[in-house]
Amino acid sequence: MKALVLAGGTGTRLRPITHTSAKQLVPVANKPVLFYGLEAIAESGITEVGVVVGDTADEIRGAVGDGSRFGIEVTYISQGAPLGLAHAVLIARDFLGDDDFVMYLGDNFIVGGITDPVADFQSGRPDASILLTRMPDPRSFGVAELDSGGQVVSLTEKPEFPKSDLALVGVYLFTPAIHDAVRAITPSQRGELEITHAVQWLIDQRRDVRSTTISGYWKDTGNVTDMLEVNRSVLEGIEPGVEGTVDDSTEIIGRVRIEKGPRISSSRIVGPAIIGASTVVRDSYIGPFTSISENSRIEDSEIEYSIVLRDSALVGARRVDASLIGRGVRVLPAPRNSFAHRLVLGDHSEVQIPS
Ligand code: G1P
Repeated sequence: MKALVLAGGTGTRLRPITHTSAKQLVPVANKPVLFYGLEAIAESGITEVGVVVGDTADEIRGAVGDGSRFGIEVTYISQGAPLGLAHAVLIARDFLGDDDFVMYLGDNFIVGGITDPVADFQSGRPDASILLTRMPDPRSFGVAELDSGGQVVSLTEKPEFPKSDLALVGVYLFTPAIHDAVRAITPSQRGELEITHAVQWLIDQRRDVRSTTISGYWKDTGNVTDMLEVNRSVLEGIEPGVEGTVDDSTEIIGRVRIEKGPRISSSRIVGPAIIGASTVVRDSYIGPFTSISENSRIEDSEIEYSIVLRDSALVGARRVDASLIGRGVRVLPAPRNSFAHRLVLGDHSEVQIPS
């Protein structure tokens, strides 16, 4: 069995945080979301992985390399234009050959991995199997309708009036039957060859399409609350360890991971929390469920239940809670005689200030 990982497209829908980067490289607990997917694939026993790349190919290649550090062998497949998920299957035909495969959308996060769905698929070997998750408002996803026996009856891409609360998760298990389907369909209204339509084609041909409903699913839709929540759940399971320099007047409590090179002094860190490489923490409190990425500076500040992306500085900020701070951001003290907020905020930023 092979894997086809989709890592093309741009992050324009995911503002503000993914303006500048491939959406698959958004970090969760200081690690790109794509890496969790690749690890989950490796864990399920698959080693041959095709990675479909588009405009952000260089960034993805730079991050993933040949895949050896995940224990997989990566073949890059270039998609000239973002013409849809089914189009990605079309252009990957040479790589896929006649093997079964799991298609994994690189910006999707599945708590608990895909080992069980892959094993179930291999033992039952239906023509296709899809993963679903319950969502209060699934309108920006594919939506499945099941019959009373749990068989998939219909799939609709981003319906205005969803027939159920079952959203299609970006993990699909296919036999080579999908190749006929992706050749048979025509582009949707948004001009893409939709994988949803290809799976519907299989259903219409009375092929065996099964589904599994999972929990613990996340995708970056630009929703900060959800991002903080997935960060929290991943931090709860991180391996604690200290690789940086921590002085005697610093207190570290609970599950805390300090990556290579940070310098921590006169601070209190209460886990679960992670501090990225080369970050400096001084005279500060870092509370539970906080991820501070690499090369940042936290001084004379208190921060909790938050994410700080790389190259950012927080100085004299008390107190920061439930916040998502992007790359290269500087939060600095204002001149002492001023009660005004001095703000330089990028497009689509949001700030809540005490009033
Ligand atoms: C795609 C699929 C959609 C699925 C979603 C999951 O949407 O078309 O059915 O629910 O991935 O990530 P897209 O990301 O292309 O909007």
